[in-house]
Amino acid sequence: MLLEDLQNIEKQAAQALESAADPKALDDLRVKYLGKKGELTAILKQMGSLSAEERPKVGAFANEVRAAIENLIEQRSNALKAQMQEKKLAEEKLDVTLPGKAAPLGKSHPLNKVLDEIKEIFLGMGFSISEGPEVELDYYNFEALNIPKNHPARDTQDTFYIPDNVLLRTQTSPVQIRTMEKQRPPIRVIAPGRVYRSDAVDATHSPLFHQIEGLVVDKGVTMADLKGTLEMFVKRLYGEDSVVRFRPHHFPFTEPSAELDVQCFACHGEGCRLCKGEGWIEILGCGMVHPKVLSICGVDPEEYSGFAFGLGLERIVMRRYNIDDLRLFFENDVRFLGQF
Ligand code: DAH
Repeated sequence: MLLEDLQNIEKQAAQALESAADPKALDDLRVKYLGKKGELTAILKQMGSLSAEERPKVGAFANEVRAAIENLIEQRSNALKAQMQEKKLAEEKLDVTLPGKAAPLGKSHPLNKVLDEIKEIFLGMGFSISEGPEVELDYYNFEALNIPKNHPARDTQDTFYIPDNVLLRTQTSPVQIRTMEKQRPPIRVIAPGRVYRSDAVDATHSPLFHQIEGLVVDKGVTMADLKGTLEMFVKRLYGEDSVVRFRPHHFPFTEPSAELDVQCFACHGEGCRLCKGEGWIEILGCGMVHPKVLSICGVDPEEYSGFAFGLGLERIVMRRYNIDDLRLFFENDVRFLGQF
């Protein structure tokens, strides 16, 4: 009787273990057959009713059955582990031949790239960098630069006034005044920054653009220093074979004043589309600092002299990279910005 029961338990256990799908099911079966309240234990409990000669036989057989079931559990457990490992490996399979996913790298804005180049050129000539506020007093933007109220130069630089005497600066020239107010000569600075004018937006105009101001004040500074410095700058920026010319001009805060042109690199002065038939391209305005401006800043024009210059960054960058629409600088389209 009991021997048969034991045989049946082994058979059932073998079948059930065959289909145990995971470690949890396996453990449940271990409890069901071998646990303290399991089927095998239940049989062993009945052994008391057996005769003295039957007992050791049944006991020995029960031990065999237990060992057989334990063995089956172990086999099944190993098989399940192997299955799981295989599944995991298949899921984690890595195709090392796939192309990598490159993280998109940021780039300098073209305006900053060229600005950095220009800064580098002037720093190399002993200049340092000066800054001033973009929200400026009328006094610094106009008055102190010898542009009094009602001066016609104000019309061409019409701007955004906040109250009457505060405005968004129309040029970086006010940094000249601020620099001379807080620093005694010798002065050698450039002042790059944003400037504002109430221009309508089109391919060549923007109410916000960038200028780079320059100022040199010392004893005995002459027009020759101005020409030498700026010609050197242009050659560093556009190449040693660049040809420049100074053309007389007028600015209220310099006397004499000039504009610097560089000979068109495309046609070498013949006249072409790039230079609009001129043969020359205007780069910057410059001149000897007006004695009135020096005096206003407490610098004695009898003792000191200086030169100043101002250039527009956007135009230089547009020419450098052949960009035909200034709005591209400010739209922040990564397809445009990624090209530089
Ligand atoms: N501030 C002038 C402008 O916006 C440019 C300029 C011309 C600056 C001559 C200068 C200079 O320092 O000397 O048109």
